[in-house]
Amino acid sequence: MTVTIAVAGKGGTGKTTLAGLLVRYLIRNRPGKKVLAIDADPSSNLHLVLGLPLTQTVGDIREESRTGVGPGQSRTEWLNYAVRMAVEEGDDCDLLAMGRPEGQGCYCAANHMLRSIMDGIAASYDYVVMDNEAGMEHLSRRTTRDVDHLLLVSDASLRGMAAAEAMVGLSRELEINVRNIYLVINRVIGEMPPTLRAKTETLSIPLLAVLPYDPLLVEFDGQGRPLVELPDDAPISEAVASVAQRLLA
Ligand SMILES: Nc1ncnc2c1ncn2[C@@H]1O[C@H](COP(=O)(O)OP(=O)(O)O)[C@@H](O)[C@H]1O
Ligand SMILES: [Mg+2]
Repeated sequence: MTVTIAVAGKGGTGKTTLAGLLVRYLIRNRPGKKVLAIDADPSSNLHLVLGLPLTQTVGDIREESRTGVGPGQSRTEWLNYAVRMAVEEGDDCDLLAMGRPEGQGCYCAANHMLRSIMDGIAASYDYVVMDNEAGMEHLSRRTTRDVDHLLLVSDASLRGMAAAEAMVGLSRELEINVRNIYLVINRVIGEMPPTLRAKTETLSIPLLAVLPYDPLLVEFDGQGRPLVELPDDAPISEAVASVAQRLLA
């Protein structure tokens, strides 16, 4: 059974960071398990956090399928082959980038095929970690799979939390089943302010974790070093490890 974890939230809250660090945790702590990272943000950048090259995206493939399918080939077969080739195979985990979302044209048939192809690919992994763009409208267009854990990331502000709360409503409208939804507050310096702590208790979703501001992470990002290389004893690595342990217990 594949465990699917999706990360969503407002822009700049740390979604890609958290997704990357969850992948890092799985690689280091679940040896022998297959991990697929899905970059569902059109401005793909999860690969940088994972230290992988960015190759063809599913969006590129959808475009190419309009003209690239040769005579005697079925479009499904062509798409199936192309998407499988687009899975970037890293040493420790694989990556599939969604790229640009569908345009206004009628690509419905292609999208439908792509979703089931991606679901077929995902099913062969033990863990799928999906990094989403800000907002959630696209989550259900990307997958027909159930999401086991949806993590809504917020910064340490009342506005951030209000945005997360609004997303809970949106997520209930998705055409996919989301088993658990949790709040994660990121980039907290010192203790959480009491007003924020009190606010979390009024929300409809449980607070899974408070992740610390970690200067080492800033240093890595500043140098363009993949976050998968962060040491185990970095505060953010330890915090994400306890998130993962609670999720996967
Ligand atoms: N816990 C943290 N401590 C310090 N900096 C962080 C932390 N989480 C994220 N950042 C920084 O915040 C910025 C935005 O993070 P990112 O993961 O790209 O957000 P998103 O994917 O939600 O847009 C990045 O520069 C990242 O280095
Ligand atoms: Mg991001």
